[in-house]
Amino acid sequence: MPLDDCRLLQLPKVEDRRGNLTFIEGNRHVPFAIERVYYLYDVPGGAERGGHAHKNLHQFLVAMSGSFDVKLDDGHRKATFHLNRSYSGLYLSPMIWREIDNFSSASVCMVLASARYAEDEYVREYDEFLRLTR
Ligand code: TYD
Repeated sequence: MPLDDCRLLQLPKVEDRRGNLTFIEGNRHVPFAIERVYYLYDVPGGAERGGHAHKNLHQFLVAMSGSFDVKLDDGHRKATFHLNRSYSGLYLSPMIWREIDNFSSASVCMVLASARYAEDEYVREYDEFLRLTR
């Protein structure tokens, strides 16, 4: 099931008295080549992001600061992950409906993606998503 492919991945963490360092290499620490990076920030309390799926896109979400919840749905099953560490992240395979909410103040959600932005690659209607997954 696609939801089983979605999982928390631990990232390298170089601990140092001067501060910690984490790095991410495409096709090594995440299971795809990284083609795009974007981030959500200045999210007002109570706001919800996402609310769509991607036909072919692979993504990896990291809470660079603060915390938030990621609710996943593959059309058959649902799962919720709470992200609050900058040395681990959540891998999302294609065709997963996601909603992100419960953002703490000053939180930053960084997203690594396997392709450049393309609106025709989104599934934005939940009914269509269910049709495509059944
Ligand atoms: P969207 O992916 O719907 O946001 P989220 O899933 O985080 O709630 O994108 C919001 C808007 O930003 C939409 O109009 C498209 C634009 N956008 C880009 O132009 N490039 C990008 O890489 C992303 C992710 C979004």
